[in-house]
Amino acid sequence: MTTNPAAHDAIASNLRLQCPALANKTYFNYGGQGPLPTPALEAIHASWQRIQQLGPFTGDVWPFIAAEVNSTRRVLAELCGVPPHRLALSENVTSGCVLPLWGLPFDNGDELLISDCEHPGVVAACVELARRYGLSLNTLPVKHLRGTAATTDQAVLEGLDQTLTAQTRLVVLSHVLWNTGQIMPIAAVADRLQQHPQHPYLLVDAAQSFAQIPVQQAAAAADIYAFTGHKWACGPEGLGGVALSERVVQQANPTVIGWRSLKDESRADLSAVDPFHHDSRRFEVATSCVPLMAGLRRSLELLDQEGTEAERWQRICLLSGALWQRLQQTDGLNPLLEVPPATGLVSLQREARTKPAEDVQRLGEKGLWIRDLADPICLRACTHIMTTDEEINSLHAALSL
Ligand SMILES: Cc1ncc(COP(=O)(O)O)c(C=O)c1O
Repeated sequence: MTTNPAAHDAIASNLRLQCPALANKTYFNYGGQGPLPTPALEAIHASWQRIQQLGPFTGDVWPFIAAEVNSTRRVLAELCGVPPHRLALSENVTSGCVLPLWGLPFDNGDELLISDCEHPGVVAACVELARRYGLSLNTLPVKHLRGTAATTDQAVLEGLDQTLTAQTRLVVLSHVLWNTGQIMPIAAVADRLQQHPQHPYLLVDAAQSFAQIPVQQAAAAADIYAFTGHKWACGPEGLGGVALSERVVQQANPTVIGWRSLKDESRADLSAVDPFHHDSRRFEVATSCVPLMAGLRRSLELLDQEGTEAERWQRICLLSGALWQRLQQTDGLNPLLEVPPATGLVSLQREARTKPAEDVQRLGEKGLWIRDLADPICLRACTHIMTTDEEINSLHAALSL
């Protein structure tokens, strides 16, 4: 895949120019955190000012707060292809995974099947859940899949068939693997699980998919589809969401309980048998930072102005494909994938004596930012729609040294 520099730079420039973070560095850590565009920061500021004008704690401010919460829930639910009552607001990916996870109705002896590419925080929550409730753990191998979408999808489903047992009650699988960048066939996995006698729950970490690739089909098929606004969506840190299946909303208990989980938030009724909302709000807790919501919505609007979801994904892949090709053609640089990436994540290994963390530091000293990963040991660079061909050239040159 080749790129047309002029076309890219023209298309990408609008949003790029609005991101101060991109003005003084060569940035490839979108999978870690996206840059916050100035209009999003201004929207946060304006919302915060409005709250101070109306409140902060007055009868006048509550309609504004309610409108902010409702419109944000609506926007995120629509992006996930679920109705708003199935979209809980959260602070980050991890809490979106863990709050509903711990409320699922597990029985002693149930098995959790976790892919070998999950994020340490989510894995740790599963391990501790298993320890406390007498559950067992099993691994779904996906880390070794480095080929085309078709072969990967087939291998994931075969791997699932081989690792599911009669006791499996939950499968944990990211939509986009944060280390290799492979896309997992979430809807097909959900279909398979539906045919299993236990109909295991499907928890999907959407940290690397939300606002990068189309997510509606996967989000609507999963039981728990948790994402954050601060990575590919280029929103502020501290705000995310989780799309929940109807059965999770109905069957899972609230875990970290607070006034927002309650049907009647004004009083704690000691005799109430079922005081909790029977929608996504049972997983919301208490006071959170409302001004962030305007910021995330603004960032999502700005992304929309750069093209449709499909067009943006295509552009991201054109850029990651160009980087992958350059790496592939360079002695001593080995991309993890055997084919051009289907997302913006490009992981690679260097045949050099330096450790990846040292490479990250060396490139950082030149104002060029990528990250290293521990498993598999590698470097990871991410392209977003704001990435330029010049940046890809600089990265390639710096890695080739
Ligand atoms: C796949 C994946 N899951 C979870 C996380 C943690 O995200 P958060 O801090 O929003 O919970 C990350 C962050 O890098 C991630 O890449």
